[in-house]
Amino acid sequence: MLFKDLKEAAKDPILGLSEEFNNDSNPNKVNLAVGVYQDDNGKTSTFESVLEAEKIILDMDLSKSYKPIDGDKEFLKKSLEMIFGEKILEEKKTFPIGLNTPGGTGALKLVSEFLNEFSSKSTVWFSNPTWANHKPIFESSGFKTKGYDYFDKNSNNIDFENMISSIKSIPSGDIIVLHGCCHNPTGCDLHEDQWKELANVLKQNNIITICDFAYQGLADGVEQDAIGVRILSEILDDIFICSSYSKNFGLYSERVGCLFYSTKDKNKCEKILSQLKKTARTIYSNPPAHGSEIVKIILNDDHLKKLWIKDLTILRERIKDMRSSLNSNLIKLGCKKDFSFIVDQKGMFSFSGINSDDVNKLKDEHSIYIVGSGRINIAGITTKNIDYISGCINKIIG
Ligand code: LMR
Repeated sequence: MLFKDLKEAAKDPILGLSEEFNNDSNPNKVNLAVGVYQDDNGKTSTFESVLEAEKIILDMDLSKSYKPIDGDKEFLKKSLEMIFGEKILEEKKTFPIGLNTPGGTGALKLVSEFLNEFSSKSTVWFSNPTWANHKPIFESSGFKTKGYDYFDKNSNNIDFENMISSIKSIPSGDIIVLHGCCHNPTGCDLHEDQWKELANVLKQNNIITICDFAYQGLADGVEQDAIGVRILSEILDDIFICSSYSKNFGLYSERVGCLFYSTKDKNKCEKILSQLKKTARTIYSNPPAHGSEIVKIILNDDHLKKLWIKDLTILRERIKDMRSSLNSNLIKLGCKKDFSFIVDQKGMFSFSGINSDDVNKLKDEHSIYIVGSGRINIAGITTKNIDYISGCINKIIG
């Protein structure tokens, strides 16, 4: 009988927790698992700039006909400027092409399927730890995956020396996945000099590089956060970049992202683009239009762009405040574990060091949901729930 022996699939380590959370009847429940921003009232409100752009779209009476396989040209132009910066583009230091994809996950799947067609024997290397969905995306395309050193649990920071030596041992022609900023799950990013050193190692060792860049603007600012991606693009002969507008425009459910390929050899651009389009056609055919239209309108309009930067700055600063407050609350409570590292981590997440037993206790005894690895979504903490959260963490750890 069809599917008789089929086993139920394991719940997704991140989105599966949201399902459990939704079924939890505890009025004090807090979802600090999935990377979604909440304001101080616990709401994931739509950005004001996005609402304004949507009003403009309504008045435009736009067609719902298909977009080109690679997406809207003007949207892609604006996206290229945001990622690479006008300087790199004007000076023609590299030649990037882009495709609008269904979210950052769509970009990762597209590059994974594309590379598997041309380089299926390569192993794909991820930072240890990495986003829980990275390995499944590449493994389901047929790749073998391995980890490179990244995080030192004792210092709660990047172990750069071991990172570089472990990357030096990656065989030529293998594939590496980096995090452009706001490393998920650790919140620990490389400095400018470290990006340069890393880029030179990748170039010397001929490693195919993919940079997952889903959080531009959530660490220090839109321009500042692109430092790593721009250094890689200037130094490497070829690079793939997967970007997302889910977090920095709050367009989670619109599924809007991009895959960029950037090369020093201009002659390759059209060929690679044609192949990527061929691959995209077999996965999702062409991208959804509404989200990219919103981004295009905002980035093309000075007033809306300023409004968006204001929204993004408020979001980023609120997360930083919550980092400091969580740390100071735990100090006040006399927590025996030092959580001061949380203050310096970047973006939405903190790799808290809370072990899996304690993660389960937080969920089962207090309805506080964090990812099994100990990753906390700081963007889910508010002035209303912070006392409850810090009290429960202290009770469990202390
Ligand atoms: C996360 O890491 O929580 C987000 O990127 C959402 C997701 O799709 O996992």
